[in-house]
Amino acid sequence: MEKELVIVLDFGGQYNQLVARRVRECNVYCEIYSYKTDINKIKEMNPKGIILTGGPNSCYEEGAPTYSKELFEMGIPVLGLCYGAQLMQHVLGGKVEKAPVREYGKTDVHVNTSSVLFKDVSEDTVCWMSHFDYISKVAPGFDICATTADCPVAAAENKSQNLYAIQFHPEVLHTVEGTKMLSNFVYNVCGCSGDWRMDAFVENQIKAIREKVGDGKVLLALSGGVDSSVLAALLSRAIGKQLTCVFVDHGLLRKNEGDEVEQVFGNSGTFDLNFVRVNAQERYYKKLEGVTEPESKRKIIGEEFIRVFEEEAKKIGAVDFLAQGTIYPDVVESGLGGESAVIKSHHNVGGLPDYVDFKEIIEPLRDLFKDEVRKVGLELGLPEYLVFRQPFPGPGLGIRIIGDVTAEKVRIVQDADFIYREEVDKAAKEYKEEHGKEAPWMPNQYFAALTNMRSVGVMGDERTYDYAVALRAVKTIDFMTAESAEIPFAVLQTVMNRIINEVKGVNRVFYDLTSKPPGTIEFE
Ligand code: XMP
Repeated sequence: MEKELVIVLDFGGQYNQLVARRVRECNVYCEIYSYKTDINKIKEMNPKGIILTGGPNSCYEEGAPTYSKELFEMGIPVLGLCYGAQLMQHVLGGKVEKAPVREYGKTDVHVNTSSVLFKDVSEDTVCWMSHFDYISKVAPGFDICATTADCPVAAAENKSQNLYAIQFHPEVLHTVEGTKMLSNFVYNVCGCSGDWRMDAFVENQIKAIREKVGDGKVLLALSGGVDSSVLAALLSRAIGKQLTCVFVDHGLLRKNEGDEVEQVFGNSGTFDLNFVRVNAQERYYKKLEGVTEPESKRKIIGEEFIRVFEEEAKKIGAVDFLAQGTIYPDVVESGLGGESAVIKSHHNVGGLPDYVDFKEIIEPLRDLFKDEVRKVGLELGLPEYLVFRQPFPGPGLGIRIIGDVTAEKVRIVQDADFIYREEVDKAAKEYKEEHGKEAPWMPNQYFAALTNMRSVGVMGDERTYDYAVALRAVKTIDFMTAESAEIPFAVLQTVMNRIINEVKGVNRVFYDLTSKPPGTIEFE
């Protein structure tokens, strides 16, 4: 059965992925395409609806991204957001010009609840605005259905043609009832039934993998991160022992992580597969000896991974497929689907081993957003601690130890990091139990790093000359920008006390307040 599809046409806005994610949260499958996508391709895809994203341009300027009028005449419902809304009006005969007042941030908006877009939305609600142009006159056939103090056309509709324009950003959570609006569009305008569910995804993928792989052999580099773990679980359910997972323990993992991965996927775990753990710790430490330059460290760790993996692959022999944990943001960001993509770079793809003998790559998760990958992981019975793991860089603790890496330093940073995460998790859990909601300071990523600074301290009556640990915790939506999280001082104090008492070799603890930019999240 063909699944329902809504497409997002990307005009270069920063929230394009968010739009698609919100639509999928409504259980409707959604894909992102460039605004340059040919109209015939769109027709072929036969979407139930089309959403035009925001973008940084002025639609009335020469050379600005645009689309032909035909897009609005196919009988497929269209929703324009921000730039997309202006473009729709511009193309269909309305007027867009520079606004006398630039609106930015949370804004009160009055909506007409008899519009299907605002069904069950409060008449007066809050939206997220970010625009310098505005629609000064709607196109023929359109009615205004929302306004703000500074924006006469905050939304407009042409009911008979199923065309809708919203000046603000319903996809951003600051638009309090935004999800409701998007849900109204996909259900009540496009007539979707909501057939995008993760249990069905798992079932369909298992079938698809079996069909594709036949009785072939599949090789997967399992890192213990969320994506490769979920992929291992999915492949195991589909093809069992035809799958071999190679897990390289480079000795730069978080405390206990190597054993945890082995517990889940190894012989005593619940997944049927061939599991190979390579204990390459010593080999990595040797390669990294005396290396202090961050990029050199990254390179060595990356290259060594490929060498180790190749060696194991040679032992295994020829395979038919190499499985990769590519997910949808990787696809969009490498410019295959979207528009804004090309600007961003990402460091998820570490390069392919040169000498692995395989015929084809399979990427069963390539349609999924991260939160969907996690849901699939839970469906497949992976433990929560694995599914909700924080992002962890490929080079691991190697880039959280400033300066040269040694086994001793790895031990220090592992122990400090473990204590830090334990205390933050405990405080977060207590807050949730007491207040019934997540702590406002709850970071999206938090970890300890080891500085290469040693300083004098006193412990008991003894002079110490030990290392300083730096604690990092950030709040971020997309990891492209981040703020330091306001972890309660008492929690930080407990962490500091525990680290200094329990981790030998540390006599000082710092908390990193730096935002990104100018800092990065990791230290190297
Ligand atoms: P930065 O340090 O660039 O980190 O602000 C942004 C996010 O990316 C993660 N990160 C990496 N992830 N391989 C990865 O898979 C890497 O080499 C890498 N470096 C940074 C980092 O943990 C943060 O979530």
